[in-house]
Amino acid sequence: MNRKYRKTLIAGNWKMNKTPSETKQFLMEFKGMMPKGRWCDIAFCVPAVCIPAAVRAMRETRVGIGAENCNANASGAYTGEIAANMLVDAGCKYVIVGHSERRAMGETDADVNAKVKAVLDADLVPIVCVGESLEQRELGITEEWIAMQIKSALNGVGENKIKKVVIAYEPIWAIGTGKTATPDQAEEVCCAIRAVIRKLYDAKIARAITILYGGSMNEKNAFELLAKLDIDGGLIGGASLDAEKFVKIIEAANQPTT
Ligand code: PGA
Repeated sequence: MNRKYRKTLIAGNWKMNKTPSETKQFLMEFKGMMPKGRWCDIAFCVPAVCIPAAVRAMRETRVGIGAENCNANASGAYTGEIAANMLVDAGCKYVIVGHSERRAMGETDADVNAKVKAVLDADLVPIVCVGESLEQRELGITEEWIAMQIKSALNGVGENKIKKVVIAYEPIWAIGTGKTATPDQAEEVCCAIRAVIRKLYDAKIARAITILYGGSMNEKNAFELLAKLDIDGGLIGGASLDAEKFVKIIEAANQPTT
């Protein structure tokens, strides 16, 4: 982290877990345990049907609610889909875009790019996910692959909009597997992502963009990961379903930075 130049964000990604009633119960419990200091931004990205309950439960707190996906179109004949402006109206602040689980369901780099633009046009914060497979890591092409994903996701995103974007580096082999990237491995790629942003935009923008790590981040490894200069927070799946663990990760964001 480097709190002098950029925001720290601890964001939960609930995936397809918890009903609206469970959402209400969980967040009421979380509210009672939430650290009082304001050392990081906090978000819960939840299933679409849980958004109203989450927004209601977190009203008048500093916790932002997010969606896990949205459609790139503003409206129309897209049965079952949800547009960014609907998420705004429901009280969302964030949208996860291009999670590897959605890419595995067929979402392409072009789809991710269109969604990033739709989310920014709605004035929401996209949490853009990128990450390599184990095979790509073993082939030694991690950084090229991620640079390609970033360039493609941000294609056509202007300097006035890029400041809102959050990037999440999530190695696919670390998601939900209990295999976390080591702090050095995660830092290396987050630093490379910042270099890509520097090339695409400029040094000032690169210094200010928030880059998260995601992939089996938990209450035990969060402190070490967040101690790295280019890791500005976490996108947390499994451990965000447990209020105590999630609180501990938030507390790990309260450490001295250089
Ligand atoms: P995990 O998920 O923390 O359960 O590995 C992270 C994610 O997929 O965002």
